[in-house]
Amino acid sequence: MKPQISQMEPWLGSEERKAVNKYLQQGGWLTEFKKTKEFESAIADYTGARYAAVVPNGTLALAGALMAAGIKRGDEVIVPDYTMIASANAIVLAGATPVFVDIDPETLCLDLQLASKAVTKRTRALMLVTINGRFPAMEDAVALARKHKLFLLEDAAQSLGSFYRGRHLGTFGDAGILSFSAPKIITTGQGGAILTDSKKLYEAVLHIKDFGRQKSGVDYHEAMGYNLKFTDIQAVVGIEQFKKLSWRVARKKQIYGLYAKLLGGVKGITLIPTDLESTSPWFVDILVAKTKRKPLMEFLKREGVGTRPFYPAIHIQPPYRWVKGKFPVSEQMAGRGLWLPSSSFLKDRDIRGVAASIQKFFHE
Ligand SMILES: Cc1ncc(COP(=O)(O)O)c(C=O)c1O
Repeated sequence: MKPQISQMEPWLGSEERKAVNKYLQQGGWLTEFKKTKEFESAIADYTGARYAAVVPNGTLALAGALMAAGIKRGDEVIVPDYTMIASANAIVLAGATPVFVDIDPETLCLDLQLASKAVTKRTRALMLVTINGRFPAMEDAVALARKHKLFLLEDAAQSLGSFYRGRHLGTFGDAGILSFSAPKIITTGQGGAILTDSKKLYEAVLHIKDFGRQKSGVDYHEAMGYNLKFTDIQAVVGIEQFKKLSWRVARKKQIYGLYAKLLGGVKGITLIPTDLESTSPWFVDILVAKTKRKPLMEFLKREGVGTRPFYPAIHIQPPYRWVKGKFPVSEQMAGRGLWLPSSSFLKDRDIRGVAASIQKFFHE
């Protein structure tokens, strides 16, 4: 049975429906054109990136950015062991080798000191995942990349609406990416964007997006490329979703704040330090004892509340069993973390209800 309160649902309204109808009545070609440009401008304006190129999803945004930077077979890319598996898979897709590094327990992001030790002669890039809108000291990440001449790619798939010292996450590196998949703060069903200030990198991305074509409509291919194009029909949805972003960012912060107030004192629950000035938590996350997570999830399911456990540590997932090394923090967090209902449309009374169920579980 579907829980009465899902862990996460996309939120579309009559504005998106009307905009899609209007677009279809006008008879566009569906594929990327003027609406995609308008969506890209909205992304660039909001994030402050000089260029934004939209692509079919966040995974291809990561792979496309790496390819555009010339990352290839034989190159190593440092990536955290705790992230959505797409971060690592995109490195493999670009032909390179992911090198896993443990995370910092305070931020759940890459441990920069360990990352520094993982640099070898083959390291070409550093992928920093600002997971759930949290971040390490970004200037240290930039300094580490500069010191070793690494391409800094920020996986900001979960960070739309999150800033570090007033600057949007995803704009500190040589490139950053966003995702607009269905559970994200705003969605186009699937979708991703590559952000950069570099004209050279942006032009390389455009080549990769369009089969390496010299220019649109000309079948002369001056570079290796694929098809990473978007569609105007998704862009129409994205433009309407974007108009709702600022409100949703504020609401995500309120939702997290209310949960934190209601659950902060519950014995058995640990909250992850969260600076709500800067971070717009995409998912509300808590840590519980490993042995309590499954019983809590089952109890909440019976109460009609959907939850989702954190991603498993990547090195234990079947495609990465070849990985050697120890990742104690990643393993611990992955085993303890739980995502609570986090949709932007949740009412305060919904959150109070979820919190009451959680309190009941720990006090019974
Ligand atoms: C951190 C992170 N990176 C990459 C991705 C991949 O994005 P997409 O699902 O748009 O391919 C996700 C998706 O949730 C993500 O959370």
